[in-house]
Amino acid sequence: MKKIVVLEGSPRARGNTALVTDWVLEGLGRAFRPERVRVAGLDILPCRECGDCWKTKGAAGCRPPDDMPGLYDRVLDCDLLVVTSPVFCWGVSGQLKVAIDRLLALVFGENLLKHKRLALVLTGGGDEFDGADLVVHACRNLARFADLDYLGQLVVAPCPDRPRLGRDARIREQARRFGRELRAALGKKPQP
Ligand SMILES: Cc1cc2nc3c(=O)[nH]c(=O)nc-3n(C[C@H](O)[C@H](O)[C@H](O)COP(=O)(O)O)c2cc1C
Repeated sequence: MKKIVVLEGSPRARGNTALVTDWVLEGLGRAFRPERVRVAGLDILPCRECGDCWKTKGAAGCRPPDDMPGLYDRVLDCDLLVVTSPVFCWGVSGQLKVAIDRLLALVFGENLLKHKRLALVLTGGGDEFDGADLVVHACRNLARFADLDYLGQLVVAPCPDRPRLGRDARIREQARRFGRELRAALGKKPQP
């Protein structure tokens, strides 16, 4: 069974991105039992650029006293990492950015993420060129840098706020379709 970790970047536990993510996971199918991790619920300190991760092989080597060790274990154990975020100021949420910076400790020194799969789910208040495009670009670069197999993105922008989003059958179907595409991709071997 493939293991899926959903790294949820929104500070709102029941916000737009969480609802769109619910629908993606419906499309993916319950059988995978993805683990959802809200970064806003974790205590994660920003990268201090101490350089310890560069000197460490086989582990993150990153030692600030916070919740990252548990997140490192979950990410190391997964086959597919689904990163979700609202677009905040033409980037991801601050909470998610801090977590991604720290996850790079699994790449520096020795790349322990090589060939894992990555997918992205975004919601934005503006259109797709109001920051979502920049996040997609950054995510592709991250995948190339970390040798991840990038499965693609779902961008819902402009995203109506709840409860209008809850009634939007078109977005719901679009998200479920993306989930089904991820399920199909999981059945395939990662690109060499
Ligand atoms: C601080 C802040 C910054 C935002 N910046 C952008 C932005 O640059 N581009 C955009 O399209 N939407 C922006 N938005 C709108 C959110 O991306 C949008 O409402 C999103 O769907 C919220 O998702 P959530 O409910 O999961 O937090 C911003 C919202 C906030 C609160």
